[in-house]
Amino acid sequence: MNLPKAINELEFSHGSIYGEEEREAVLEVMNASAPSCGPRVKAFEEAFAAYCGTSYGLAVTSATAGLELAMIASGIGPGDEVITTPVSWISTANVITSLGAKAVFADIDPDTLNIDPDCIAAKITERTKLILPVHLYGQCCQMDEINALAAKHNLLVVEDAAHAAGAAYKDRKAGSLGDIGVFSFHQQKNMVTLGEGGMITTSNLALYERMLSYRSLCCRTYDPKGKYLPIDESKHPMGKRYWYLEFDGIGFNFRMTDIQAAVGLVQLKRLETLNARRREIAHRYSEALSKIPGLGLLRQTPDTTHSFHVFAVLVQPDFPVDKEEFMWELYTKKGIKVWSHYMPIHLTEVYRNLGHFDGECPIAEGRFEQYVSLPIHPRMTDAAVDYVIESIRELRLRGATT
Ligand SMILES: Cc1ncc(COP(=O)(O)O)c(C=O)c1O
Repeated sequence: MNLPKAINELEFSHGSIYGEEEREAVLEVMNASAPSCGPRVKAFEEAFAAYCGTSYGLAVTSATAGLELAMIASGIGPGDEVITTPVSWISTANVITSLGAKAVFADIDPDTLNIDPDCIAAKITERTKLILPVHLYGQCCQMDEINALAAKHNLLVVEDAAHAAGAAYKDRKAGSLGDIGVFSFHQQKNMVTLGEGGMITTSNLALYERMLSYRSLCCRTYDPKGKYLPIDESKHPMGKRYWYLEFDGIGFNFRMTDIQAAVGLVQLKRLETLNARRREIAHRYSEALSKIPGLGLLRQTPDTTHSFHVFAVLVQPDFPVDKEEFMWELYTKKGIKVWSHYMPIHLTEVYRNLGHFDGECPIAEGRFEQYVSLPIHPRMTDAAVDYVIESIRELRLRGATT
């Protein structure tokens, strides 16, 4: 399928844009022999934490790694329950399950697709330790209600902010709204660090120190300033002055590299501009698509600033074709890369095998029949956005007459 000449296929990809400044930043770090977790990582952590309004940032290899560290630092383990949403990437649940704890899925608000605080309340038991809301597509969850529930039941709150770099709730940035926030800089995200990457934010020193330790194999000498410290030489088995390492637990290597951090620093500077373009595109889509019968839009809550990592529409029963056909037609006949974020996690085979079942989250399951993600990328021109809109209009008309 050939796209109209004016449209570059790249406009339909996901993620961010690299410019000259990122290229220069990479070369500069290479010329300084490209260390693993060096001064640029520290600078990136500080800049990102300051941007979010938290005391600490911790750069990691991915959001999956960051969420894993957040669960470990929160003491999640066998017998514990963590309440999360079924509508997310599977990482959100896997970091719970991998520690032997139970992922408990609370249903969603049908209008925003975010986890519904009332459904969370209904799932709290004496085994619940933590709430893990996901700011789906870049729109923050109802954090006042979620934090009130957590305070009432003495639970921790970890924000999965993988989609939400630059998003805000009541003028506070995502990542500063719970005990811990976790971001993704994977190639498809609003800001990126060379394919993979993530950041943890927190203002809780004890949690930060635990995550810092586990990020780097629980190596005892890896102090909060990121420096290796000498250990008391009198304890060395050889009785000599010597630097050696001791380990406090079974940790990981989830360290970001300096090259990635150097790129992340530049991307962070551009984030507001990149997100502003996403918002313009979302506005253009919303204006036009709201007039097409049978197509639903998600509700934008007035107290949030959306980062529009994803722009989704609902293909409702009165649209002439169903979701599957809608996606297939746009993809095969129009060359438009559409997707569906995401199949509800409890319906995946691996979670069904863990005892999850159809009907567990009926609202999520119903909406899964409808939600489709349209292309949104800061590189997209108005002409490309209009091409998508026109293609949907055509599908509506064609479908209506057949
Ligand atoms: C909601 C959500 N959480 C977590 C992740 C995991 O991010 P990463 O790919 O950086 O591990 C993703 C990735 O797409 C995601 O969408």
